[in-house]
Amino acid sequence: MNTSDSEHIAGMLLASGLTASPTPEESDLIIVNTCAVREKSEEKLYSLLGRLESLKEKKGTIIGVVGCVAQLHRSKLWDKKPSLDFIIGPDNYGKISQIIPSQTRKKVLFTEWSPEWRDQPVQQIKRDSKVSAYITIMEGCNNFCSYCVVPFTRGREKYRPIPSILEEAEELASKGYKEIQLLGQNVNSYIDPETGDNFAALLENINKIASIEWIRFITSHPKNFIDEIAYAMKKANKVCHQLHLPIQSGSTSVLQRMNRGYSREEYLEKIDLLRNLMPDIHLSTDIIVGFPGETQVEFQETLGLLANVRYTNIFSFRYSPRPQTAAAKKEDNIAFEEKKNRLIQVQALQRKIQLEKNKSLIGQTQKILCTGISKKDPHVYTGRNAGYQVVNFNSPNDVFDQFIWVKILSCGPYSLFGEKAEFPSFSR
Ligand code: 5AD
Ligand code: SF4
Repeated sequence: MNTSDSEHIAGMLLASGLTASPTPEESDLIIVNTCAVREKSEEKLYSLLGRLESLKEKKGTIIGVVGCVAQLHRSKLWDKKPSLDFIIGPDNYGKISQIIPSQTRKKVLFTEWSPEWRDQPVQQIKRDSKVSAYITIMEGCNNFCSYCVVPFTRGREKYRPIPSILEEAEELASKGYKEIQLLGQNVNSYIDPETGDNFAALLENINKIASIEWIRFITSHPKNFIDEIAYAMKKANKVCHQLHLPIQSGSTSVLQRMNRGYSREEYLEKIDLLRNLMPDIHLSTDIIVGFPGETQVEFQETLGLLANVRYTNIFSFRYSPRPQTAAAKKEDNIAFEEKKNRLIQVQALQRKIQLEKNKSLIGQTQKILCTGISKKDPHVYTGRNAGYQVVNFNSPNDVFDQFIWVKILSCGPYSLFGEKAEFPSFSR
């Protein structure tokens, strides 16, 4: 979501006549887009702003903070960093172009909410990729999971009308984009504000757009992931058989304290349905360890769940108390060392599972969307398969931004490695 927001902001700045600068040192304006979900991401902001302060002193660089930390602390950010020029929350990016041309020295704060969906001109978005694009379909969250700061930084849910979403998707298709990723904090609760059509109907509509080949969406909340969505995924042939379905904990009692609105058993029933409908589906999840009061027994239930579900990928975190949340009022009583230890156990188990699963893919020929060059080796291409796994591969010719077939030759726990193949023996 933040990457996509940054693409919107960059587009607005370019449209208002600014040009991109190669380094912070050469910039006249620096905007830091921020995440508030864990304390660590907030700390990173303060250390970055500390480093940028010398630029401000030397050449008067204009520096602003946008995003969730801006919204969370509002004008209090000036108590910490008095030299900041502007503070703009996630619901106010549209106003950035208003303040930039004037390059005013007056401090600016935009953090009020608007209850309605506001469209940003789609032609302005400065997308990083020429082949894969994000489309925001909703903003905000109504769930108030007890650990999560997002409802306080992104406000209540509001939904983008289907015609506006389809217009952006058609525009992308006409420019040659092949993959669309629908974005929202809780896409499964999507409702068209005009017709009442739900997320399953939206998938059906997007699926009709010629020349888009892959459709994905993130994030799904298990509570709102009704069976109809699983059936819609199966029916819509362009929707990848891949789903990020964050469980957070394998223990029903912890899930209750997290205010997640489902039990371990209810979650596992959804996994069963998905696997029955789409046996080749790749599943991923988020896990929080060390939630207040998480006992050893409860933690073991999370390990048991990971061993049972065998996800393709997980994102795991130590619980971090966040301002204004219900859980922050409880004692953060799991010691840092214990949280660390639990995280190591989760990641070690998952690493073993991923290695086993990846090894079973060796020899397959998979359809890959090539998105760039491998970070480790400039002679190696990188892309993703339908399951959203990273696949690095050799190719004799340039395959940037193309779908190609790759034969998987080897793997590690976190990526696959292969070579370009001419004749697919396996497809999806
Ligand atoms: N502490 C740790 N992890 C958190 N997440 C959200 N809030 C917190 C928190 N306070 C994790 C959840 C969520 C992901 C985006 O970040 O797992 O799904
Ligand atoms: Fe946060 Fe829960 Fe909303 Fe996700 S569903 S953004 S975890 S409050």
